[in-house]
Amino acid sequence: MTKGTVLITGASSGIGEALARHFAGKGFDLIITARRTANLEQLASELKTKVNVQVVSCDLADPNGVSNLLQDIDAESVDVLVNNAGIAYPGKFHDQDYDDIYNLLSLNIMALTKLTNAVLPLMVKRGSGKVLNVASVASFQPVPSLSVYAASKAFVLSLTESLSEELKGTGVSVTALCPGLTDTDLVDDMQARNVPPFLMSSVKGVAKEGFDALMNREVIRIPGLTNQAAVTWAKHQPRWLVRGLGGLFAQFNSKNPS
Ligand SMILES: NC(=O)c1ccc[n+]([C@@H]2O[C@H](COP(=O)([O-])OP(=O)(O)OC[C@H]3O[C@@H](n4cnc5c(N)ncnc54)[C@H](OP(=O)(O)O)[C@@H]3O)[C@@H](O)[C@H]2O)c1
Repeated sequence: MTKGTVLITGASSGIGEALARHFAGKGFDLIITARRTANLEQLASELKTKVNVQVVSCDLADPNGVSNLLQDIDAESVDVLVNNAGIAYPGKFHDQDYDDIYNLLSLNIMALTKLTNAVLPLMVKRGSGKVLNVASVASFQPVPSLSVYAASKAFVLSLTESLSEELKGTGVSVTALCPGLTDTDLVDDMQARNVPPFLMSSVKGVAKEGFDALMNREVIRIPGLTNQAAVTWAKHQPRWLVRGLGGLFAQFNSKNPS
């Protein structure tokens, strides 16, 4: 018997794919979406032996992306929404193309907000439901050379915390999963492979932490002791020091590309 239906964005690779596998292992039916249909179909064919899987190909950065997705699914059936799809563009803001910045904001902020705004009222009306927003340790501090990405993740964390209070007593919860560097294609996009291996989390571990935090209705989960220590340390330092160290790290990274 199904435990419910989970809608996962960005399930074609990385953390989203690992979350899909984890939810399927726990008996949830899946609606998985992303642009790479072949990856989604491959995942679906593996998981369909265990649970029902609906594949919806969709570009969520497109202004009509979320509306197109909602037309293809039964939003009323969604018990868990996982807003995982996200992208990062490294580099100095003044060198970046506005179209790329706009694309990032459209996906990391606008699509997440629009989808949550569409699904949440149905959950509140029903008196049950859970939302998992994939934020980042970058939600907690500025990250020079990933400035727009970090700002977008600060938005995700802030939105999640506010909603968690607004939703008290409704039966609906919202959780921010804040991973540190995790071994996915995004690390290559961020040009951040140059870190000691102990700083790189596995997608499987991050997915399990996200699932557990969601089930416990936690508001914020930072996977891994090193990431927790780094966030706690930064919280107790002056902001000039935190952004200054971030700037030095960005300079080191640009001189030693991965
Ligand atoms: N990896 C890390 O170090 C790390 C750390 C902290 C937080 N995160 C967050 O984790 C989440 C997942 O990233 P990941 O690390 O697993 O990277 P990933 O493997 O690159 O996954 C990104 C996912 O987003 C989807 N996506 C990208 N553009 C899209 C679009 N326009 N429309 C619909 N889907 C789109 C991709 O699918 P398609 O390309 O098929 O569309 C893919 O499934 C992101 O929100 C990221 O910010 C990652």
